[in-house]
Amino acid sequence: MSVADPLPVVQTAREGRVLVVSIANPPVNALSAAVRQGLLAAVEAAEADDAVAAVLLVGTGRGFIAGADIREFGKPPVSPSLPEVCNRIEACTKPVVAALHGPALGGGLEIALAAHYRVALADARLGLPEVQLGLMPGSGGTLRAPRLMGVVPAVALMLSGRHIGAKEALATGLVDRLADGAADGPGARAAGLAYAGELLAQGAGARRTRDAQAALADTGASLAALEQLKAETAKKSRGLFSPLKIIEAVRAGIERPFDEALKFERELFLQCIASPQRAGLIHAFFAEREVAKVPEAQAAQPRPLASVGVVGGGTMGAGIAVAVLDAGLPVVMIERDEAAIARGRANVEKVYDGLVKKGRLTPEAKAAVLARFNGSTAYGALAGVDLVIEAVFEDIEVKKAVFAELDRVCKPGAVLATNTSYLDIDAIAASIARPQDVIGLHFFSPANIMKLLEIVVPAKVSADVVATAFELAKKLKKVPVRAGVCDGFIGNRILAVYRAAADHLMEDGASPYEIDAAVREFGYPMGPFQVSDLAGGDIGWATRKRKAATRDTKARYVQIADRLCERGWFGQKTGRGWYLYPEGARTGTPDPEVLAIAAAERQRVGITPRAFTHEEILRRYLAAMVNEGARVVQEGIALRPLDVDVVFLSGYGFPRHRGGPMKWADTVGLERILADIREFAEQDPLFWQPAPLLVELVAKGANFDSLNRAA
Ligand code: COA
Repeated sequence: MSVADPLPVVQTAREGRVLVVSIANPPVNALSAAVRQGLLAAVEAAEADDAVAAVLLVGTGRGFIAGADIREFGKPPVSPSLPEVCNRIEACTKPVVAALHGPALGGGLEIALAAHYRVALADARLGLPEVQLGLMPGSGGTLRAPRLMGVVPAVALMLSGRHIGAKEALATGLVDRLADGAADGPGARAAGLAYAGELLAQGAGARRTRDAQAALADTGASLAALEQLKAETAKKSRGLFSPLKIIEAVRAGIERPFDEALKFERELFLQCIASPQRAGLIHAFFAEREVAKVPEAQAAQPRPLASVGVVGGGTMGAGIAVAVLDAGLPVVMIERDEAAIARGRANVEKVYDGLVKKGRLTPEAKAAVLARFNGSTAYGALAGVDLVIEAVFEDIEVKKAVFAELDRVCKPGAVLATNTSYLDIDAIAASIARPQDVIGLHFFSPANIMKLLEIVVPAKVSADVVATAFELAKKLKKVPVRAGVCDGFIGNRILAVYRAAADHLMEDGASPYEIDAAVREFGYPMGPFQVSDLAGGDIGWATRKRKAATRDTKARYVQIADRLCERGWFGQKTGRGWYLYPEGARTGTPDPEVLAIAAAERQRVGITPRAFTHEEILRRYLAAMVNEGARVVQEGIALRPLDVDVVFLSGYGFPRHRGGPMKWADTVGLERILADIREFAEQDPLFWQPAPLLVELVAKGANFDSLNRAA
């Protein structure tokens, strides 16, 4: 081998009578074609070498194996397939031990299940998470996991996609023993060698999982349990393809001979691979990782981030404080007086009390978290913090006043962030002497739960402040998306447009219930009118009144919502909105009076109502979303189409298996979207103006994904 040759991704070395097979394919030892080839060759070599009495499989670096190489899905298959590799490992006549540290996921766990003995280090994380990518285990996992764990726990593992720790893996039978020692590659190697040595000393031979029958002994009970799981899954998984396939495969594993069931599992797996849901979910997986790759974070190092200040103790401020406390950082909260501080603290405590009540947190642990929380009425308490998040009332003058105080008290280099949904952050930055330190952090409510964080980058901010914001997102376990400054940034700006499309549909004759139903059928958990009832109609009403003076001529001003608000029907909290909520019910029922109000409004403005099918509703709703998404990309408000996708997947309930609005548009074809927009423009040319980027991509025969790859 010349010096320039890279090290092989699978390396073998003899340790006494054990052939150590090390997987070295950073960053996560994914099972690329080269790894599969290397594993197969290593087992063949072990089989052929009389000096080898046992085989040890071990990962180097961060873990054992994180699964199939996701980037290979959808491309032509390269031999050997993973099932071939697993079957060859299982068939080995010499005992094969897998020593697991870090992630042993998907195909990685399937390799371990095909080995004959398994030992786990303390940090091992085992799982069959394929379902999250629209897939199922396709290399014997649906047959071998039930043979070790029992049918119900194995199906639960596969349907949830959950990772389990070493102790749970031992308790469920997935691994044979735990090992102490360093939770890293060398630690796993040492533990595996010790186990292999013991097995050889005992004269233990190959022990194949396919032959393990104890956990499947009661076939009748297993099949009955599967029937029940199937019924529950059909209800819960709402149109997802792979969950039911998992159950089918497990069933075949009970009813059919092992090799036949393996073939059937592979057929089902290939059906999953071919499904558009797989493409959507894998797009979502990579997009969620790509969003953090922004120019500023790549060019600059984050500033220190050891303490955080939060200004404002309302719902948003308290939610942000909880998110920061949960990340293990100390928080100083500023409010204007003692009573407000007490309310802010109570808002924070309420979250932890809920956890204590549910048994998910001990009172001692709650006390330990709250020991990191301090409230103050004096801005001076922020003098030492590294980053401040202002979360006061959404009014630019109020915010500027807070920033003047921050400018006065904060140490040089402190990051000054505003949590705003739509205000001009450039104007806030320009109002103080250190605009380079000012950034927007748009949290979504409840801020300690919602994953999305829009990081809004004003013109004058320095790159290391942007890098610090991304670092904060990582600590808070948020999904950060970089956004430029405009009214509504990425999410709310696009929302305003497709929400207007929904209002226009209603004005033209669709009922809010039909619109909600169509949107739910697409895969959203709720329709826009249900969301409005949940959030409170008064919020939108206030915005409409505020914007009335400067209204964009593109928008038709729809009055039906105002008629409801004038009656005090703000949604769930008032027992009535678009829906009726009798006696505090959380699910609404359609309200004939709302339909009558809508009809009266249409008549008043001279609209002859027409009927819309669910498909027609969706075409308008989604075309409006995609069209504004294209504008947002073209203007550089979003870096790439995938940033828009991630915003809608993590913050707005867009069905994950469709990959986000821009990915969905690519799937149906941009030509069709543009043709729809042009057709709708015949009735309403002001609202339906095709985004220039959309027109350009269609003319070039390109799609949004080409921009993701070019970025
Ligand atoms: N195939 C190809 N690439 C993979 C991969 C896989 N199975 N798993 C992770 N990666 C890549 C990521 O895209 C990322 O690449 P990037 O640095 O270019 O963005 C890199 O490996 C690190 O992954 P990341 O998720 O950022 O690291 P982490 O430490 O937070 O998490 C895992 C590690 C393994 C837990 C996580 O990546 C994961 O869940 N992977 C998928 C596991 C899976 O579903 N396996 C079954 C496949 S069918």
